Amino acid sequence: MVETHELSKRLVILKMNFQGKNLQSIWFEPESGGVCIIDQTKLPHQLKINCLQSLDEVCYAIASMQVRGAPLIGVTAAYGIYLSLRSNVNSLNEALDTLSKTRPTAVNLKWALKRVQEFLAGEGVDNIVGKALEVAQLMEKEDIAVCEAIGENGLPVLRGIWESKKNSQDVVNVLTHCNAGALAAVDWGTALSVIYKAKLAGIPLHVWVDETRPRNQGAALTCWELAERGVANTLIVDNAGGHLMQTGKVDLCVVGSDRTSLSGDVCNKIGTYLKALAANHNNIPFYVALPVSTIDFSILSGQEGFPIEERDNREVSHMRGQTEQGKMETVRIALSQTAVSNYGFDITPAEFVTGLITEKGIFEASPESLSKLL
Ligand code: MRU
Repeated sequence: MVETHELSKRLVILKMNFQGKNLQSIWFEPESGGVCIIDQTKLPHQLKINCLQSLDEVCYAIASMQVRGAPLIGVTAAYGIYLSLRSNVNSLNEALDTLSKTRPTAVNLKWALKRVQEFLAGEGVDNIVGKALEVAQLMEKEDIAVCEAIGENGLPVLRGIWESKKNSQDVVNVLTHCNAGALAAVDWGTALSVIYKAKLAGIPLHVWVDETRPRNQGAALTCWELAERGVANTLIVDNAGGHLMQTGKVDLCVVGSDRTSLSGDVCNKIGTYLKALAANHNNIPFYVALPVSTIDFSILSGQEGFPIEERDNREVSHMRGQTEQGKMETVRIALSQTAVSNYGFDITPAEFVTGLITEKGIFEASPESLSKLL
């Protein structure tokens, strides 16, 4: 495991700034006893902090996507166990069960709950609340260190591309999908960690950001956090990536993952697969950046067992945004009788993945390679 105390010293430069405070996506506030989060449903128009005080509030925050992104869902769930035990020391099993049902696809949720359960095994009622807080805070710190290490391990990929094109006066053009950034983890993120490390290393960069319908995590979250950190970016509609790749405007794709199988099949936000197909057709490297906790070693092939979340159809039939007058409004974009479906994730087969960038190094998307992590 990466030395968290050493790595975390270097993080301040990256954190979001809010009313003079450096922010992470989640933190524990001892004064109020609350677990504070950035309410991501309000971004980019409002930076609103919610301090959660109960298991119900944590479950709502995860299910409604006030917090989202595989690593952040896991850490939030760990804090949910603490808040539950704080109000009832005998509620561990019920809390584990309730939290495990909040979102189905990101395996980090189950990984985190298992880790907390193991950490608390054998603890009596006198200690269990303090121990639950301890493990949640530990997981928060580890997530920062792991994500920073992902960025460091991915940096040589971007450096290699920059070295090969630096005489062309161009910049390195990266395409990303959804939000696999600091907002999707505690800090740094996964795919965006690689981009932030490249930026800090002085590599000239530009990021094409897929809007990521239906929830628009690209438009609302990725563009926001890239701009906060001074990374040049351009928002594009989800279908533009193929054209940009065909016309030489993309050097590589980097995305995150919600669950990756032992064979290297990658489950990520709906639309990722189409980007991988286009990248493959145009000989563009397609990297996936993820913590090892996102690999589901119990599933060999993605087609065989990844649960694909289906969400409320209103996310597709309606759009939410800010009016010119600064008011948030939701409008219907299809007739009320139109049939709608809303699959949240898709599976990119391992054959289209150039490499998996993890905190332990870059791995080939194959069972032989990934089994080294077992
Ligand atoms: O539905 P979301 O917003 O939780 O989906 C998030 C993604 O698909 C991310 O790409 C993934 O969780 C990786 S985050 C580091």
